[in-house]
Amino acid sequence: PKPGWSVDADVVVVGSGVAGLTVALRCAAAGAKVTVVTKALLDDGSTRWAQGGIAAALGEGDTPEQHLDDTLVAGAGLCDDEAVRTLVTEGPDAVRRLIATGAQFDTDTETGAILLTREGGHHRRRIAHAGGDATGAEISRALVEAVRAAGIETIEHALVLDLLKDADGRAAGVTLHVMGEGERDGVGAVRARAVVLATGGMGQVFSATTNPAVSTGDGVALALRAGAEVSDLEFVQFHPTVLWLGPDAEGQQPLVSEAVRGEGAHLVDADGYRFMVGAHELAELAPRDIVAKGIMRRMQELGAEHMYLDARHFGAEMWEHRFPTILAACRTHGIDPVTEPIPVAPAAHYASGGVRTDLLGRSTVPGLYACGEVACTGVHGANRLASNSLLEGLVFAERIAADVTAALREAGAPAEVLQPTPTGTVLAGPKARLEIQRIMTEGAGVLRSRESLERAAAELARIDEDAAAALEAPGTESWEATNLLLVARVLVAAALRREETRGCHWREDRPDRDDTAWRRHLLVTLRPDRT
Ligand code: SIN
Repeated sequence: PKPGWSVDADVVVVGSGVAGLTVALRCAAAGAKVTVVTKALLDDGSTRWAQGGIAAALGEGDTPEQHLDDTLVAGAGLCDDEAVRTLVTEGPDAVRRLIATGAQFDTDTETGAILLTREGGHHRRRIAHAGGDATGAEISRALVEAVRAAGIETIEHALVLDLLKDADGRAAGVTLHVMGEGERDGVGAVRARAVVLATGGMGQVFSATTNPAVSTGDGVALALRAGAEVSDLEFVQFHPTVLWLGPDAEGQQPLVSEAVRGEGAHLVDADGYRFMVGAHELAELAPRDIVAKGIMRRMQELGAEHMYLDARHFGAEMWEHRFPTILAACRTHGIDPVTEPIPVAPAAHYASGGVRTDLLGRSTVPGLYACGEVACTGVHGANRLASNSLLEGLVFAERIAADVTAALREAGAPAEVLQPTPTGTVLAGPKARLEIQRIMTEGAGVLRSRESLERAAAELARIDEDAAAALEAPGTESWEATNLLLVARVLVAAALRREETRGCHWREDRPDRDDTAWRRHLLVTLRPDRT
């Protein structure tokens, strides 16, 4: 559709989590005119829901080198070493700058030192947290306040549609579908010399996920339509311990942070047997993919729908002080972790893959950057190490801001903007979304096989055909369903192609890791005729 209104900026940042708001703040501080657009409210993305914390070598005796080692082991042979080195060496100072921006982390009342916890795959205490288990909420609060104080222009309720390009094929802005924002209602455009995607993940492609409703893969879908390279989509991380709310639970599910295990909780079956002990040297604190597989295997052996996380030994005081968010969520659902074990099962949590970028966050389309979960910088490989995601958002946001502002200083007059690249087939909204989620959960979930993936691919292709009944006046639900379908299809194709088990990609029919054939990435670029 043709934009009915437009706004001009130097940089448009799409998304308002830790990655987007950090890019915005740093670009604005360097004098750039920044517009932040976000699909719901400024604090509605995934960042706000992060519990455990942010990993960085901040503790006594810890070093970036040790953090690097743990990250590489979790990544199961597919991390980009240079990207990880960048993350872990620049991480501690990036966290200190976040603190200087206003985020308040939990500290020792006597020494003032930042308190650190442990999570899966970390060999030492390395995770800074805030409000006990409300780290993301505190980071979001601090960054939103800072963005408001800096007077950065923001447009809320703005779903990004497509990339605008100039005659040279450079990113030149985005088109948006805005609802309820007065003069800017309907389809409009922000024209800018640099576009930063910070749209978060795609957890909503599955029925049960820790991700909020807004995580519909919009950035990856936009990038694909714009011809950018996307990588590693088959590596969807399933968080091992999500509060189990019944077999038919749908949508965003309450997370029970790895930090609960980091502080000593036990994973047990209905008989109280600690099945992770002996399965890995770190037992319950093995990397996330190993714990998720351990839980699924035990569920299969026993024909059970979930396992349990037992932290009754924490006692009421520790639960209330250290994990108030999780305690409240459990109690809302009728479970009291102080007196009973918590029923848990794995659910979709994090997209380790995304828009392929270099170490400055640049995608393969000039002027288009990606930051945070939407990006694939190479730091996560086949399985992200716990609490490295907020850190990735911070570190690479600062790198992107430096590159964008340096490029702006050298740029001449803005180029003429061409019409947007066309958005693909539009679907009838809510029905398609639920159907995609069902297909993906059944065929491409935590445990996959050639057969299940082929079935999923065929069913997704039928949805595409059904979309012939496109809507006349598409709305948010239709755009989201369009994006979910596109990323689901690419994800299934990649999962089919990768004929091995590695990290969080678990193929029942190919149970072994195959370093001879598969120590490599799957890159996807859509041919223009796919749009
Ligand atoms: C958690 O608190 O368990 C989530 C941490 C993460 O996803 O990195």
